[in-house]
Amino acid sequence: MILVTGGAGYIGSHTCIALDEAGFDFVVFDNFCNSSLESLKRVEKIINKEIAYVEGDIRNANDLQSVFDNYKIDSVIHFAGLKAVGESIEKPLEYYDNNLNGTIVLCTIMKKNNCKKIVFSSSATVYGDPHTTPIKEDFPLSATNPYGRTKLFNEEILRDLYTSDHDWKVILLRYFNPVGAHKSGMIGEDPNGIPNNLMPFIAQTAVGKRDELSVFGGDYDTHDGTGVRDYIHVVDLAQGHVKALQKIDSLKEVLTVNLGTGNGYSVLDMVKAFEKASGKKVAYKIVQRRAGDIAKCFADPSYALEVLGWKATKGIDEMCEDSWRWQSNNPNGYTKS
Ligand code: NAD
Ligand code: UD1
Repeated sequence: MILVTGGAGYIGSHTCIALDEAGFDFVVFDNFCNSSLESLKRVEKIINKEIAYVEGDIRNANDLQSVFDNYKIDSVIHFAGLKAVGESIEKPLEYYDNNLNGTIVLCTIMKKNNCKKIVFSSSATVYGDPHTTPIKEDFPLSATNPYGRTKLFNEEILRDLYTSDHDWKVILLRYFNPVGAHKSGMIGEDPNGIPNNLMPFIAQTAVGKRDELSVFGGDYDTHDGTGVRDYIHVVDLAQGHVKALQKIDSLKEVLTVNLGTGNGYSVLDMVKAFEKASGKKVAYKIVQRRAGDIAKCFADPSYALEVLGWKATKGIDEMCEDSWRWQSNNPNGYTKS
């Protein structure tokens, strides 16, 4: 059985479906601090079966131990954590506590129960401002904010665990920019308040919840002056976790893998693709750069193909169509639709 921490969240809920399709049994562990039970209810409808889940906090050893007492856990996919960069600057202690302490408690309980296989959600943010693109896994690492530092430190914690005991099997997945939604339109990204990330902001503008997108910077050294990113469909990303689990038993060392498409698209490319997919106009204005943003970030995904046999299959048109289906069917997300 696979323990999926943070399994009610955006990437976790899509991964539950991929796990089920691949024949893995799983139990979700989530405190619903950034998600709702409704996402799991919808996953149940999609996969047509009940999901095992436990409400609890990864920082609470008793909560976690109860999962190991009740289920025979073979491996863990560790999504649980806080993820908003701006908030991490305002509330660093909460981020260090949740993301670092949470991982430490989780690994301690795993060790106690002799479960030593973990797939961790890292991020392209660990590359800081890359000196060149596409980004390979051996590029230098850095972080400019507390959220990014928690990703870097968690990677180090997991590497140290492996060094201390080679029975640990660790896969660090560095996601680029996850977007899109499941084809059903029943689950998707449901940010609290005003979205920080581009795609939910575009989607909410298209559906009429926001007046206008602010494009952060029109003077970057990119093909149209706006920031370039590697947007990856969340269903492709979910599949990457299945591939990681299928690989994990044969690991001889810690595996660190980029999950991206290898394609870089600008903010305006995404606006145009979304307009095409939705048939709606997305009003925008170009404003100042956002502090901490970089011009270009996209993956070299060739190592993922080599070691996991994984590559992204979905392009930006499909990302935007699926994101629009979710947004237009659920204009207020899970809670008020
Ligand atoms: P999300 O917020 O939708 O999901 C995270 C889930 O973890 C939520 O359901 C939340 O309730 C739960 N959670 C948080 N703290 C918890 C705790 N202490 N105990 C139990 N549950 C807790 O985020 P997501 O987009 O699905 O991201 C999943 C993981 O991937 C995170 O670790 C995130 O940092 C990482 N990641 C996300 C992105 C992205 O753009 N979405 C990019 C790179 C990496
Ligand atoms: C952000 C996080 C990063 C995290 C990643 C994936 C910041 C500074 N960085 O990266 O740590 O790993 O999400 O979750 O938050 N944009 C606009 N207008 C908007 C929103 C975004 O123009 O309203 C632009 C940005 O300047 C950027 C692109 O859209 O060029 C993508 O932004 P976003 O979705 O926030 O992702 P990242 O900045 O890549």
